[in-house]
Amino acid sequence: MASKGKYEAISELARRRGFFWQSFEIYGGMGGFIDLGPLGTKLKHRLEDSWRDFFVKGGGIYEISTPIINPKIVFQASGHLDSFKDPMVECQRCGRKYRADHLLEEAAGAKFEAMGLEAIDAEIEARNLACPECGGRLSKSRYFLTMFETTIGPYSEAIGYARPETAQGIFIDFKRLYEIARGKLPFGVAQIGRALRNEISPRQGPIRLREFTLMEIEFFFDPEEGCGALEEVEDEVLRLVPASLREKGIEEPIEKSVGEAVREGIIINGWLGFFMAKSKEFMRGLGIPEDRQKFHEKLPGERAHYSAQTFDHEVLLEDWGWVEIAGHAYRTDYDLSRHSAFSGQELRAFKAYEKPRVERVLKIVPNEARIREEFGEKHKAILEALMGARPEDVKGSIEAKGYFEALGERIGPEHVSFRTVEVKETGRRFIPHVVEPSFGLERIMYAVLEYSYSKKGDRIVLRLPRRIAPIQAVVLPLVNRGDLEAKAKSIWRALLEAGLDAEYDDSGSIGRRYARADEIGVPIAITVDQRSLIDDTVTLRERDSWRQIRVRADEVPARLRGYFSGDLDFEGMGGS
Ligand code: GLY
Repeated sequence: MASKGKYEAISELARRRGFFWQSFEIYGGMGGFIDLGPLGTKLKHRLEDSWRDFFVKGGGIYEISTPIINPKIVFQASGHLDSFKDPMVECQRCGRKYRADHLLEEAAGAKFEAMGLEAIDAEIEARNLACPECGGRLSKSRYFLTMFETTIGPYSEAIGYARPETAQGIFIDFKRLYEIARGKLPFGVAQIGRALRNEISPRQGPIRLREFTLMEIEFFFDPEEGCGALEEVEDEVLRLVPASLREKGIEEPIEKSVGEAVREGIIINGWLGFFMAKSKEFMRGLGIPEDRQKFHEKLPGERAHYSAQTFDHEVLLEDWGWVEIAGHAYRTDYDLSRHSAFSGQELRAFKAYEKPRVERVLKIVPNEARIREEFGEKHKAILEALMGARPEDVKGSIEAKGYFEALGERIGPEHVSFRTVEVKETGRRFIPHVVEPSFGLERIMYAVLEYSYSKKGDRIVLRLPRRIAPIQAVVLPLVNRGDLEAKAKSIWRALLEAGLDAEYDDSGSIGRRYARADEIGVPIAITVDQRSLIDDTVTLRERDSWRQIRVRADEVPARLRGYFSGDLDFEGMGGS
């Protein structure tokens, strides 16, 4: 692994200035949890708002909020109870537990995500891996369920789990949301919220957390219709590492426009491509250059159980290498089908035909008297099972094998006949398909801090994009003198009234205060000096260039609003 230089520098700044630090510090800390300080909390809100502005507003997307704790049935239906687990080994001397694939990754510098337990054990043995802490022998690997389990209320049988993704809350609400969308596809549903994963041994600060924030969209569409928005983004060039190349051992990205990648089947769904392009644009707006981003397709064995295709949106971090900050999955109709089957609820969409169609439909005609006579008490249940089956399946089975099996009994031609009837269909019922862009907020926050972190001489300058800077402006009296302080405070209050996030700072020399403002990424410093008292002007200083302009004090709020909305650049703020 590379040196911890950048990560340590950012962590030091983050602790000192109040972006983030490890949780439960006074009790020795605990891996996988971080607290966001005042600036980190503001930055989180800014990132959430930017994400909403970019993806949710005006995009046919609704935002909802659903519970963190869900009853067990939700994760039985979603498949997480069977699949959401990681391979673990335990040191037989000191008892420490490790995520087995990560141990291998660190030892070999390659990914081992898709390996079964036996293969992992063989690899550990072949590499003679021991406990990294005490050198003890490692146990055989076993799976560990990475969802936090609890009970709901005082009932030990009412098992609940903390959600590992916000997505399930959206799928469960599909029926209501579809009504709210007035029964029209496509539409998306967004959710920003906490998710929990009981990671085995998280050791990467804000990169691998047990409790974190996801910003997710489940986008529902008719799989028989193309992506109506692909045109908007089709020329965007993505750096892609497709599974087809990875299978040949090639991990270098290729460059393709989204349009081409969808047409060539590298991205198997247009909506998936659409959100990948948007995701790239979003990260670019947060200051992450395109050549430090790529989309890494998961191999079939690495993909989550619900996904037909997944691309990890990765960015390059100095100490951690390529890190996933968003995932793009084509979840097909998997989740809605499962929740429909487990809840017994209809979770289908309806699409009206332009004109009603007459369709020929196969029907089962049971010989009820014969079934009753032959199967006695069981006959009702058999009839129900038979009528619940697809007529085509029953007919096909009888034609192929001579019988159809229902509740362990053989149903033959003596028990059923078939009839084709004409029915007038006004539309088509189907389970919508889903693509999911899912963003890890804390990882994005860390990446943004890393890409903003710069040095000017020995000074840290955090070049945060202006629209996500936690503090937008700081007002500074040049020296501590009552009349300058009073003037500076009145400007500060005017900024607050104008809805700007401004601070007032009169502690220490002006040089130290500029340095502090640069370090926490305040884009504009406003200095009130002797001349301000005479001609009612102040100095505006830009964080990145350190340029200064003079502006009339009463115009500062409006100029700053123009600057933060992107209508004015720094020089423009000095305009007449
Ligand atoms: N919903 C995306 C994930 O669980 O990673």
